[in-house]
Amino acid sequence: MSFAHRHLLGIEQLSQSDITAILDLAEKYVELNRQSLKHADELAGLTQINMFFENSTRTQASFELAGKRLGADVMNMAMQASSIKKGETLIDTAMTLNAMHPDLLVVRHPQSGAVDLLAQKVNCAVLNAGDGRHEHPTQALLDALTIRRAKGRLHRLTVAICGDVAHSRVARSNLILLGKMENRIRLIGPPTLVPGHFAELGAELYEDMSEGLKDADVVMMLRLQKERMDGGFIPSEREYYHRYGLDAAKLALAKPDAIVMHPGPMNRGVEIDGTLADDINRSVIQEQVEMGVAVRMAAMDLLARHHREAA
Ligand code: NCD
Repeated sequence: MSFAHRHLLGIEQLSQSDITAILDLAEKYVELNRQSLKHADELAGLTQINMFFENSTRTQASFELAGKRLGADVMNMAMQASSIKKGETLIDTAMTLNAMHPDLLVVRHPQSGAVDLLAQKVNCAVLNAGDGRHEHPTQALLDALTIRRAKGRLHRLTVAICGDVAHSRVARSNLILLGKMENRIRLIGPPTLVPGHFAELGAELYEDMSEGLKDADVVMMLRLQKERMDGGFIPSEREYYHRYGLDAAKLALAKPDAIVMHPGPMNRGVEIDGTLADDINRSVIQEQVEMGVAVRMAAMDLLARHHREAA
């Protein structure tokens, strides 16, 4: 299995075969994670540092567990209370950590491009855990694994991504990945949340949910990212739910076996009906979380192998 990358910064840099390599290895870790003894030693002796400059529950927990299951020493930096608050720059913080010889740095940052910049300054492997509106590669990979397991393939599917596309790194990374794997992608939402330039990334844009969902194999809902909005994007949450919130009636327009996805955290009753989100016959939201740990194990394993081979 060859994976010739020093870092995992975005889906943009990955080829079809890189994506398949990560997903295939992740399958092995899905099995391991279902055993009662979950320990492996692929990262034994290595140091993983998680630097989250934005709040995160599931992504940080997922990366932490992934590292621990593979035997790495994992440290979580409390970035909220860190020297950044004392005026230190991101690069100075990175250089300080670099001097401690970590092997894997997992970074989430509110600014698009910050993680790429940091990767240029350090010697270890850097994994982007979400940078601004730019990319969130492990989320797209875990979504891809979830889709591949549910649908038996990852090509020639019609995938509808609905809601707050404009503010979403999840949508962007998914759009790039699903495009590379030759799927048909539709983006659905009001023009304020689905700007026209997304068509350049190869997606079809829809303002009307009933047209966009027609015959979809996968329906991916996005959280309304209120913290990234500065007003005026939607008339009201009630109106938004009426037009764009996914419920059983709207889902009936998609294929009868269409799956429902959401990266979390969910706003129940805003972008998705709570009962539908919990319906294990349609929703794969819990599987997405499960696949997240396996995909992160696979990504860190492949990067560590690459660094060993390059050393
Ligand atoms: C996403 C993120 O942070 O980009 N969440 C996640 O990683 N599971 C999506 C979101 O915050 O809505």
